[in-house]
Amino acid sequence: MDTASFLRRRRLLQWAWASAGSASLGLPTRAWAQLRTEHNPFALGVASGSPAHDSVVLWTRLLLREGQASATGTVSVRWEVAHDEHFSRVVQAGQSLAPAGLAHAVHVEVQGLEADRWYFYRFAVGDALSATGRTRTLPAPHAVVARLRLAYASCQRWEHGYFSAYRHMRAENLDLVMFLGDYVYEYPTASNAVRVPMGGWVVTLDDYRQRYALYKSDADLQAMHAACPWLVTWDDHEVQNDYAGLTEGNSGPPVPDFAARRAAAYQAFYEHMPVRAAVLTRAVAGLASGAGMRIYERMNFGRLASLYMLDARQYKDAQVCTRDGKKGSSTLNPVTCASWNEPARSMLGRPQEQWLEAELARAASRETGWNVLGQQSLFGQRDFQRGAGQTLWNDGWDGYAAARTRLTGALQKNAVANPVLLGGDVHENWVGHVKADYTDAASPTIGVEFCGTSITSRSAGNAKIPETLAENPHFVFADSERKGYGVVELTPQRISTTLRVVSDVTRQDSGLETLARFSVQAGSPVIERT
Ligand SMILES: [Fe+2]
Repeated sequence: MDTASFLRRRRLLQWAWASAGSASLGLPTRAWAQLRTEHNPFALGVASGSPAHDSVVLWTRLLLREGQASATGTVSVRWEVAHDEHFSRVVQAGQSLAPAGLAHAVHVEVQGLEADRWYFYRFAVGDALSATGRTRTLPAPHAVVARLRLAYASCQRWEHGYFSAYRHMRAENLDLVMFLGDYVYEYPTASNAVRVPMGGWVVTLDDYRQRYALYKSDADLQAMHAACPWLVTWDDHEVQNDYAGLTEGNSGPPVPDFAARRAAAYQAFYEHMPVRAAVLTRAVAGLASGAGMRIYERMNFGRLASLYMLDARQYKDAQVCTRDGKKGSSTLNPVTCASWNEPARSMLGRPQEQWLEAELARAASRETGWNVLGQQSLFGQRDFQRGAGQTLWNDGWDGYAAARTRLTGALQKNAVANPVLLGGDVHENWVGHVKADYTDAASPTIGVEFCGTSITSRSAGNAKIPETLAENPHFVFADSERKGYGVVELTPQRISTTLRVVSDVTRQDSGLETLARFSVQAGSPVIERT
């Protein structure tokens, strides 16, 4: 389509919009269907996220053809929010800009919505209409809420399988998805790849954009984004395997300026995620100069739960005692690694630690029944060495044990009600009790942990799981074979967690199985298998 006809169609749409008032985007469904067949600028789907009790972020990113926008062109995109999926009862509509400098990403922060209700939304540009998304607001902060159903998911390496887990997740009747990191991977491919990604190592802004576009082309992932709002945090692979703060990891081609690579990766993350403009610490202009991105936050699901999303990657101190003096991660031996438990070392960075401690100090005043911390990794200690001595993984919380003790100390000191840690990263399901002191089995249990398996990313298998479980009795369940997600249902009385796994991650039409179910009563952090 040339520019003139693009503009003509845009004017047509504007006319249709104006003539239809606020009733709908204007053209009959059949006309949309006919016109859309030429080119779909909404091929990356729609998403919503970062909900509050009165607002939510709507996201899309236009894929435009040559001539539809110049390299520096900004495109105006229409959006509307309705009570019904046919858009006969539109509650808000407007226009938002898709700037070329942000790869024509659109982030709409819809304000003034009603608390605790579902909405439908869609976008239009030219003669093209997006898929319809479904989203919801949170309950009012002090509302009494009977139930919250959320899924936690992480680690979706394209080349390791299909995202069929999301097709099944759509049927879970969820309020929210918590995505806990490794949304994209920066690798060129894998041995025995199930799907081969386009391009090589992901290093430049253009590389990262193309990788997100590839992942977001997946129909099952798109459909799950369109089904409910997502709360998102990142881990290492959105930038590079094992990076920590501004210290690079140890995989792929060396880059002359890691800070610039990280800035490009963060920009692409912003462009592709339904997050608020407030995450940009120095506005859009700060993206190019490597400004940090504040993605940690706390929200309330009425009085039922406080939800904390943490960032254990952007501010963490570098791993210590990596084998052979390399960068990145490995196991470490605490006896020979003097610095592993150094109190000054932080997983969250001091400002985020202080923010979290202040939030936890106020937790009691919010009177929320559950305090759910979504973060990247396995929280509890996992000693791989049988009997005396320890072998720990230096990139996870085990490599930052003093910081972990500060967090469990803050949970204890503030008598935080019913802490629930959700995690990812390890590509394995781990279920366990959060201990005040992981080296002392008799120390108090102060919460529970559900660390999720991956959507697709591979793991080592179950051969060593029984002995690792025996060595770490605070864990009650582990599985290193199955891929999928977890569903947590919270009520004032209990949480019920169901581990869902796909039958065959190498098949797009994979079935779904239930691996295990657990229940925890409010006021008593004891995990029961149900
Ligand atoms: Fe991962």
